[in-house]
Order: sequence, then structure tokens, then C-alpha cells
Amino acid sequence: MVLFYKKELFWQILLPTLPAAAESAAQPGRSPSPSSANRPSLPAHPPRQCRLAMNQIHVSRPNDLDAFWMPYSDNRYFKSHPRLLARAEGMSYFTADGQEVIDGTAGLWCCNAGHGRREITEAIQKQAAIMDFAPTFQLGHPIAFEAASRVAEMTPAGLDRIFFTNSGSESADTALKIALAYQKARGQSQRVRLVGRERGYHGVGFGGMSVGGIGGNRKQFGAMLPYVDHLPHTHLPEQNAFAKGLPQHGAHLADALENLVALHGDTIAAVMVEPMAGSTGVLVPPVGYLQRLRELCDKHGILLIFDEVITGFGRLGTNFGAERLGVTPDIMTMAKGLTNAAVPMGAVAVNNAIYDTVVNGAPDGIELFHGYTYSGHPLAAAAAIATLALHKSEDLPGRAAAMEPYFEEAAHSLRGLPNVIDIRSIGLVTGIELSSRPGKPTARAVDVFRDCFDKGVLIRTTGDIIALSPPLIAEKSHIDRIFGTLSDAIKKAA
Ligand SMILES: Cc1ncc(COP(=O)(O)O)c(C=O)c1O
Repeated sequence: MVLFYKKELFWQILLPTLPAAAESAAQPGRSPSPSSANRPSLPAHPPRQCRLAMNQIHVSRPNDLDAFWMPYSDNRYFKSHPRLLARAEGMSYFTADGQEVIDGTAGLWCCNAGHGRREITEAIQKQAAIMDFAPTFQLGHPIAFEAASRVAEMTPAGLDRIFFTNSGSESADTALKIALAYQKARGQSQRVRLVGRERGYHGVGFGGMSVGGIGGNRKQFGAMLPYVDHLPHTHLPEQNAFAKGLPQHGAHLADALENLVALHGDTIAAVMVEPMAGSTGVLVPPVGYLQRLRELCDKHGILLIFDEVITGFGRLGTNFGAERLGVTPDIMTMAKGLTNAAVPMGAVAVNNAIYDTVVNGAPDGIELFHGYTYSGHPLAAAAAIATLALHKSEDLPGRAAAMEPYFEEAAHSLRGLPNVIDIRSIGLVTGIELSSRPGKPTARAVDVFRDCFDKGVLIRTTGDIIALSPPLIAEKSHIDRIFGTLSDAIKKAA
């Protein structure tokens, strides 16, 4: 059987009874879309096909790339040099051409249990057959409550109330709104100010973007949220370059919160930081920094929010970064690894006292005017329950912790290669910083990315920093392959 969803977009689905290989299948129904007339056509070779191991779906090369406006992408470059990932299994992706690409980034820091986990896929399939969707506004379904309980079992003691979202961005905005609602509910309605940190990333909603500290994410969008201020970032390359473990210098940077309190008085509702800043290049917190931030928040009646979208679910060798780094926030955001990214889902874990203040202190009726149609979506809840079960049964945080010394050594073995100016590492995540080519920031890292991909290794770049965060099931052989390929590519890009 052959299905065509759209004339220009040719997906061929073959049932298992048909012969597996259709390498030279003709491409019926192809007609160029009008808007594709001016761009280079895709490579002319016939649509080779990839077999998806479990369900025998064969996906051929789509031949219309115009309609999808790709997020955070160089659309023009991609559409003239497409790199299409067609399937994934374990530690690897496979391209539409059938080339294996070792996943050095767990997708986008999210497939912590590796790809194509049968337990998760089956849980989603089963739930889809039982109940596809049900609202969670004034109604409930058992699996959402069960998923919340499972998350609460993993979060630090006291953070037992779980609000479901669909992404890290929504989690960030939800956490900020809960913080504001809490301050109001406890009679501190003058606390409307939100504090983030330079080089912080909290997604792309207006809240997260405003509290985030990345200039490039803001420049196109004009006005940000009002009443937002920022702490300095903690990147001190002069003192901390090539530090192993937590860098020694920089705890004093938390004291900048005292300056903000001096400036803004008692109008600050919350401080939101990533325990380890991932997206701006793996900035590991200095020894004592988060402890100091915790003390100052307590001293001044300010809530501390950790954005654990990357650091959650085993990445740092513990369930959450809070545990590894020894500081418990009042509110914690998460997403990505929560469902192993098999279905989008995010969550916000909230301290019980905050929940009690907002919920029990409210008049009868809705207590928090916030929520998403898909909060606690049944398929996502099923994926979360199955993922968290895998975390436990395979002790994924423990695996990451056991592999950390080998991974850190492999990262630091790149020291001394041309243009490597810093290496930072914690858990199964590392940032390798390259010096930029004069007048061409990002160009060197982009070359390294493309070379690695062509050699079968997926890395991630941010500016001229290479970030690696493989699935937590990585074996030594994967780590050798990732760093060996990266080392060659760095030398080539000298
Ligand atoms: C710390 C942090 N917060 C929020 C987000 C946004 O998550 P999403 O892309 O799911 O909205 C990310 C994404 O990488 C992140 O790293």
C-alpha cells in the first residue's frame, strides 16, 4: 500500500508484506511547488529508503522543503544543503540516506534514555488506544495524576506539587507566573520584579525571553516584559579556564543580588537561573555560588527558581541539578528528559507551602488563572510514567555518574588542540570553547559541526562553543567515537 499525503511531499509507507527494499522506487506525483522554483533542487539521486525496525515503515526522501519554517535555523542554508534524520535507535540517528550518526547531544539535550525505547513507545500506543485526550480544566484523568505523583517522587523533598506544561518555555513562564501569584497571595503584591541572569536561557515565551539573558534572542522583538533585571553571568575564563569539577572562582557574583535589592527594594518576586547554564555554552556554577544565591533569596523574601530543563532527569548524575549541587530551590522547571522527548511535555515542581498559599488562600473557584489545553495530556503522561520507570529500573542518573570521569577525561583530552580555549564539564555534559575566526564568529564551530555530521557524529554548537550531552546510556565506545571525530574536525578547522 502506498499513501500520498500531499502531491509534493512524498512519503511512502509500505506494509510488511511488501519487499523491504525499494531503493529505486519511482517518485510518482512529484511536481515542483511554485515557491521552490528559485532554490536549488535536492540532490538528484533516487529516494533511498530507511527501514524503521519495529513497524516496517519506509520513509523516502521528502522533496518539498518549503512549507516548514524551521525553528532556530538557517532556513536558506538548510534547504539548499538538507540533512534529514529519518529514524533513531539507541545511541544513533540514521539519515534519509541510511548513514548512521551517533547522537552526541541526546537530540536537543532530551533523549536521556536513548532513542526508540520500546517501553515508552508502547505506553504511548496503549494510551492512545484507551483515551486520546481529555481536558484537565475542571476534569481529570487518572494517568495525569499518576504522572504527577511519579515526578513528585523524584523532585527534592517539599517540591511535591506538579503543574504540567508542554515545553521548557511554557514551564519557565508558568514558574514566573506562579511566583507572582504567590507573592500576591501572601500579601506582597508590590513584588512584581523578576530577576534572571546574563547568558541565561529560559525558552522563547515573553517571560522566559525577558528573564533570559541572551541579546540575540531579543533583538528582533522590541519590548520585553517590564520589571525585569539581571545578575551577571558566571563565566570567568581568566580564572577558571579548563577547571575540572566546579570552578573555584565566582561565588561572589551572587552578591550582585544585594545590589539589585538595594536598587529595587522589596519589589523582587523571584530569581530564576539554570543551575548549570546549558544553551549559552555549558557554564558550570562556581563553588558556593548557588548556596549564596539561596541565602540571599531567603534573606530578602525572594523565591529561587531553578530552570532544570536540561539539568533534570539524570544529566548531572542525579535526578536533578539541585541534588548534585546541594541547593534546593522553591520552584523548579523541567521538560525534555521528562518524557525522553517522545511526546512534548514540561512540568513545574512547586514547594508545598507555595501551593498552599496560592490555593488555600484563594476565594472559592479557580485559584490560579493559568493552564494549557494539553496540561497533563494523556499520551504525554503515559510517556512520562514509562520514562521515569526506565530511569529507575536502569538507574540512568547512576549510569551518568559512573561514566562522568571517563567522559570528563575524554573532553579534557582535547586541551592543546588548535583554538581550544576552554573546556567545561559536569555530569554527562561538556562545553568546548574555540577561539573565533577573526571577524567571523561562529564560522569555526559551524565547520566543525558539519564535518562531524558528515563523519557520523552529531554535536551541537552555540557561538563558537561545542556542547556535548549524549544519552545517558552512552558506552565508552560511543564516547571514544564522539571525541575522536570531534578531535579530527577541530584540527581540520584550525
Ligand atoms: C534551561 C532551558 N529552559 C528552557 C528551555 C526551552 O525549552 P523548549 O525549547 O522546550 O521550550 C530550554 C531549551 O533548551 C532550556 O535549555
